Amino acid sequence: MISLPAWPISTARETELLAQVLASPQWGGFHSIVGEFEKQFAAYQGCAYGISAVNGTVTLEMMLACAGIQPGDEVIVPAISFVSTATAVTRIGAVPVFVDIEPYSFNMDPSRVAEAISPKTRALVAVHFGGALADVDALASLCAERGLLFFEDAAHAHGSEWNGKRAGSFGLASSFSFQNGKVMTAGEGGIVLTSDEALAARLRSYANQGRRPGYSFFHHFEAGNNYRITALQAAVLTAQLERLDSQIALRAANWRAFLDEYGDARGVTWQRVPAEVNRNSNYLVLGRVDADRDPFCARLQAEGIPCTPFYPHTLYGNPLYTSGDAPCRVMPCPNAEACIGDAFWIGFRALMGDEETARKVARVAR
Ligand SMILES: Cc1ncc(COP(=O)(O)O)c(C=O)c1O
Repeated sequence: MISLPAWPISTARETELLAQVLASPQWGGFHSIVGEFEKQFAAYQGCAYGISAVNGTVTLEMMLACAGIQPGDEVIVPAISFVSTATAVTRIGAVPVFVDIEPYSFNMDPSRVAEAISPKTRALVAVHFGGALADVDALASLCAERGLLFFEDAAHAHGSEWNGKRAGSFGLASSFSFQNGKVMTAGEGGIVLTSDEALAARLRSYANQGRRPGYSFFHHFEAGNNYRITALQAAVLTAQLERLDSQIALRAANWRAFLDEYGDARGVTWQRVPAEVNRNSNYLVLGRVDADRDPFCARLQAEGIPCTPFYPHTLYGNPLYTSGDAPCRVMPCPNAEACIGDAFWIGFRALMGDEETARKVARVAR
């Protein structure tokens, strides 16, 4: 058995910041540490504004709603993602349009997006699967040409970059998750980032009971909600952000060692990461197995490696969509469907030990 580091991890820094919050009279979202964290994280990803919220599902929903996506509008999403990418669209009454992914990047294929656009299409949500960015150049220019709003679901891509520009800064707005398994976590949490001042103001009001700055606490301008994170979460996230750069560097070095050790062995095709992705959160190690995927995963699991067979179906294969309960439009998705049968992921803990541990994992995968 290979012994891998635990996740999540905290240090004396989390304890110190948590103690400061606990010693204060404000443990909720109005403590200054929440706003400070939002500013720091937005700046870290190259955006002007950050609006935190309880999780990375709610953040997707509020991002689309506050940007003006209306019931009946179509929003293009990849056929492969965690379900929230699609259900956020469904929950605001809009219609997800599922398009295929590229076979080895696991990201939305820009040429398939172009074919999916109809007169009802208003927006596109790109997912940076596993941490490597989707082709944001092609997707952003397509959106500009066809008059679509461009959003990023960057739940996997904290700190990732495309040609030196950080994930989440390419579209009108982006959404991140701080759920327990993410590379930065407070157990739960999420944030929307944008550089659009008016959108940021709408998001902040929406997440804070429809309040507006300059008015009394009991003055509400719209039917908002209480989506605020607590100061305890912001304390933990502040400490996690301070550690993120060094952890990304560790995973990058271990991934290089992993590939070096795997060498020219056959059997697995690892995720194809475009050269433009100059920095990768390495949230997931992704691959496709040439032969039988499930025995491969079982072999790694038996050695203590957190290897998971891919999703059991595409997003549109969920009962929500196959039953017809939620309207959607499905484009041909042969690559997504092939990945269901042969792809897998390994959690980033496999890249959080020392170099020899990363090499051991590669030897088991060979
Ligand atoms: C791509 C993607 N989008 C959205 C989410 C939803 O985030 P949360 O679990 O914080 O609601 C997740 C994962 O958890 C995800 O992987």
